[in-house]
Amino acid sequence: MCAPRRRGALGLRELHAPSVLRGGLEDAPLRIRGAARLAPARPRDRPGRLRCAPHADRDRGRAAARGAARRGHALQHPRRAARGLRTGFGCRARWISRRAAGPRSGHGGSVAGDRHAGRRRWIGRGDPRERRIGRVGKRCRRARGLRAAREHRGRPGRTGGRCGGRHRAGTRPARRLWGRRDRRPLHHRQRLQGRARVSITRPRDIRGYRRVPRRIRGGPVVSVTVRLATPLRAAAGGNATLSFDAPDLATLTREIAVHYPELAARVLRDGEFGRFVNVFIDGEDVRFFSADGDLSGKRTVEILPAMSGGAVAPLPEQSARREHEVFGSFIDETIGIVARQTRDTVSFAVGSPSREALELVGADDLTATVLRREGASALGYGITEGEPELREVVAAGASARGLETDASDVLISAGALQAIDLACRVYLRPGDAVVVESPGFANALSAFRNHGATVLEVPVDGEGLDVGEASRLIRRSGARPRMFFVVPNFQNPSGETLSLGRRESLLALAAAYEAIVVEDDPYGLLRYRGADLPPVASLGSRVDVVSIGTFSKTFLPGLRVGWAIASTDTIRRMAKVKQTMDSSTGTLAQRIVLEFHRRGGVDAHVGRLRELYRHKQDRARTALAREFAGTGVTWNDPDGGFYFWVRLPHDVDARRLLDVALEEGVAFVPGQAFAIERDHSNALRFSISGPSPERIDEGVRRLRRAFDRVA
Ligand SMILES: Cc1ncc(COP(=O)(O)O)c(C=O)c1O
Repeated sequence: MCAPRRRGALGLRELHAPSVLRGGLEDAPLRIRGAARLAPARPRDRPGRLRCAPHADRDRGRAAARGAARRGHALQHPRRAARGLRTGFGCRARWISRRAAGPRSGHGGSVAGDRHAGRRRWIGRGDPRERRIGRVGKRCRRARGLRAAREHRGRPGRTGGRCGGRHRAGTRPARRLWGRRDRRPLHHRQRLQGRARVSITRPRDIRGYRRVPRRIRGGPVVSVTVRLATPLRAAAGGNATLSFDAPDLATLTREIAVHYPELAARVLRDGEFGRFVNVFIDGEDVRFFSADGDLSGKRTVEILPAMSGGAVAPLPEQSARREHEVFGSFIDETIGIVARQTRDTVSFAVGSPSREALELVGADDLTATVLRREGASALGYGITEGEPELREVVAAGASARGLETDASDVLISAGALQAIDLACRVYLRPGDAVVVESPGFANALSAFRNHGATVLEVPVDGEGLDVGEASRLIRRSGARPRMFFVVPNFQNPSGETLSLGRRESLLALAAAYEAIVVEDDPYGLLRYRGADLPPVASLGSRVDVVSIGTFSKTFLPGLRVGWAIASTDTIRRMAKVKQTMDSSTGTLAQRIVLEFHRRGGVDAHVGRLRELYRHKQDRARTALAREFAGTGVTWNDPDGGFYFWVRLPHDVDARRLLDVALEEGVAFVPGQAFAIERDHSNALRFSISGPSPERIDEGVRRLRRAFDRVA
């Protein structure tokens, strides 16, 4: 702080009382810093008005130019003007060179080598005492700029402009401060605060002479440095020390409360230092300190978390920032739950390709080939929209399935999940309504909620999303849906497929509301029976459809490569938002996928996967039928994909069953994970993808044992 440490130490009032105290405040303690900060310095042309401290960068050049003009000097170059320092005492703007700003230049600036010495005028009103005070005051004010913002930052090294150095007997020459001020302009908020402070101060100065502000009149001024232990510094803006003018402990705690509420919350209780901190005043424990808490003559107050009595008090509830709720996916949680099991566990929980499916890919050879051939370039940043050749591959695949696509309408994403999120970012605003299947893909439901959308859950039946019911629910809710989200083939979690008729009526419904449709189709290629259905996006042109796909289920999920197909404009917008997420999908991952496609044989690979999963699906169907006959447990019969939707008797809760199932060594995802408000607590998702056929048998046996324990 700029304020004198002690009145006696200052010595300036005694020396220069006439000029400083011209406002008739003969008995007021001199507080150069306070006076400087609140100085009713007369503006250049309007006496009696308060002037806010000029901003180092903003005002310097301007003031310089004006000052020079007034003095009849030719205008300086703004840069050079800016280098000058405006000084004076609430009257004319005067200039001293930076070099003259040091303490040595305190007497009229007759500093050797001072180019401006001849041009410089006396600073005060003729009396050297005034000059000195004037310069001190001005320097304080000027140097500190808008002190209000800074003084309580508590950096003792910044305790003031000139007075900081002078009152403390040459602790630091002021010119260093100027150098620093030059380098670092004030933050605009500091400027604002400075203005605000000026404006509330009454413009009652007399002929431009500095008055000591009312609030600091009377009483001795005692400045103390508060040293903070490391754990407390974060609550004080990272400062290790703070300086306060406080004649006694009560004032000190009040000042802390006013200027550092966060720190106060951590060290004070009922306006006093709490028992959870140890406080030492000049080394003396505050508990043995004088009853009146008089701090005169004291220099430092140390605050440390108490060694006993626990840690520093936690922040009170009301000052804790309330974070908004965010949503995740219980599917992903179950991966962790299963991984943490210490006993052997058969997992029907994850919808990830099985180990043998991953091994079919030959990832090591693909990766080695890419790296050998392309070296470091395969590890650089990529184009946001994706590797051009991979976009071609995706477009060709979509066209083969009936969705005529150009590579420019493809964006390569970090998995289908990112594509869903990109669609949300492009289309949704908080409060928008999204119509989803129920049970629905948990991660997508959470994505919509994380984007502030309201989710309208529509039941799924044997033909997928019940579009008629969707229409009724929308009307009943009064919502105007912005987006319809479907997993059209072998839906996650139900395994159901949206029939052709429903696809068409979905588009009609979306068109009626001018909503967009997002179809997310990771499983379309994994059909084990029946004929493929056309993608929703291929069935009409009146509705914007975003078609999302992924290489996760047919290739390698860990590479995180998926895609979105949409109108060129939507792809452009998605690319923009992707640039704020990950810039581009991993280059190496994309090139490994590409290498796999370049080698040919993708269709054969997918054919092998179909065989693999068909076999597993059959095995699971048979095992379920064998183990759960006559139990009241039912399940559907999907034509592809990874999932069965298993319904339990109404008195069996799937979460409770999971607890017991984990004890038996088997896992699944309870139905409630796929809903927000709808009740799927008596259902579970049973994924066939992971375990081998033998393990499927074993897992279903264990599931039956668990069921018997809870049913
Ligand atoms: C319907 C659906 N969409 C998206 C995904 C995630 O795909 P990706 O791994 O490409 O992000 C899954 C994975 O389970 C899924 O079932």
